[in-house]
Amino acid sequence: MTRSFLLLGACAVAAFAAYNLLRSGPSEEGAQTMPRQSNAIVALQMPPLAGNAAIGQRVFETACSACHGSNAAGNEDAGPPLIHIIYEPAHHADEAFQRAVAMGVKSHHWRFGDMPPVAGLTRGDVAMVIAYIREIQRANGID
Ligand code: HEC
Repeated sequence: MTRSFLLLGACAVAAFAAYNLLRSGPSEEGAQTMPRQSNAIVALQMPPLAGNAAIGQRVFETACSACHGSNAAGNEDAGPPLIHIIYEPAHHADEAFQRAVAMGVKSHHWRFGDMPPVAGLTRGDVAMVIAYIREIQRANGID
């Protein structure tokens, strides 16, 4: 009788320890999912990225994410999400992205002001960014 109580107690302690480990252990820091930026405008499903889309992600994070947010989810303080029905291919074809980067954008959809041209990117770089954006759009039902 006493033995089974002890066993039960040991199990409870082990379960509690495991629970705490799972809650606050190192698993959270090594998580694969991107943390959602606190100032993001939309919540996203991120698809696995490879090839051109993965290259485009690096270009985007360097040249665009300061305004459009990480993964183009928008930034409440700086710029709109590009993962948005407004930017579906039928409304903003790939050429609209090339034009936006080369010549900038006069504010017309949002309240963030104009987008200045972005220097230092080739059309090829922008094509990678477009592949990246389209991939995330598709994963979020925007196509
Ligand atoms: C300095 C901030 C800023 C940066 C950097 C920036 N954008 Fe923008 N972008 C904006 C804002 C603000 C708008 C929304 C304008 C409006 O009100 O319609 C916009 C709009 C756009 C649009 C929509 C164009 C249209 O025809 O309506 C595209 C596409 C776009 N950006 C792509 C990019 C890409 C790609 C990069 C990086 C190479 C980038 N942006 C970098 C601020 C920025």
